[in-house]
Amino acid sequence: MRVIIEPNYEKLSLWAANYVINKINAAKPTAEKPFVLGLPTGSSPIGMYQELVKACKEGRVSFKHVLTFNMDEYVNLPESHPESYHSFMAKNLFDHIDCPKENIHILNGNAADLEAECAHYEQMIEEAGGIDLFIGGIGPDGHIAFNEPGSSLTSRTRQKTLTTDTRVANSRFFGGKPEDVPAHALTVGVGTVMAAKEVLILCNGHNKARALQAAVEGPVTQMWTISALQLHQHGIIVCDEAACEEIKHGTYKYFKDIEKDQLI
Ligand code: GLP
Repeated sequence: MRVIIEPNYEKLSLWAANYVINKINAAKPTAEKPFVLGLPTGSSPIGMYQELVKACKEGRVSFKHVLTFNMDEYVNLPESHPESYHSFMAKNLFDHIDCPKENIHILNGNAADLEAECAHYEQMIEEAGGIDLFIGGIGPDGHIAFNEPGSSLTSRTRQKTLTTDTRVANSRFFGGKPEDVPAHALTVGVGTVMAAKEVLILCNGHNKARALQAAVEGPVTQMWTISALQLHQHGIIVCDEAACEEIKHGTYKYFKDIEKDQLI
């Protein structure tokens, strides 16, 4: 696992965006061989999305031959609701880049048959040749996508019940009322994320410090689902100083040292 420690959120966002841009450009995607990108919602990726929009407008990257698969979506929240992940993605990324609509995949939390919806999503990922780069955030309890503590580390796309912790954390988007946050979501599994060729996790702010510590220094455990990243061949966490409060001084220095001469 690589751990990249950036001074602040702006630098973290820029690092992540540059990483994505370089990966897409290096792959030289075509209609026949598109680049497949897994994408998160939440506040963590907003800065990176702003940088990607800027780069696309400046012609430094194109999403014409990029297929996207989002991580998750609430169940029973209309797509048009301002806090649906469909709305979030349109507002923060898709309305501003050149990614064709048919290349964009987001789980439908209003499907008549949610189980079939999840199975079909996995099938589409497989048909796309798997995810080249899955980008994610982490919840304060270490969840990745909506894989709450206790989720199987080999899980695939399915419906999950959200914990009170997560509904409280996400209530800031629902007028501060946890009871207004949907109780269920469809989410890719930990196994779905780990099957990607590369995984890039964004982790910023003091409230993620315990999750970062568990991810980097803790054991692999279902109680911190992000810890599964330790078993991935190409896992990267890019974090800011504020998120490093709980890792050991030696761990901090170690990653600073080994990353100092890396260009990207
Ligand atoms: C939500 C999302 C996760 C996200 C997490 C952290 O629960 N389902 O994918 O990583 O929150 O959100 P934020 O980036 O706002 O801290």
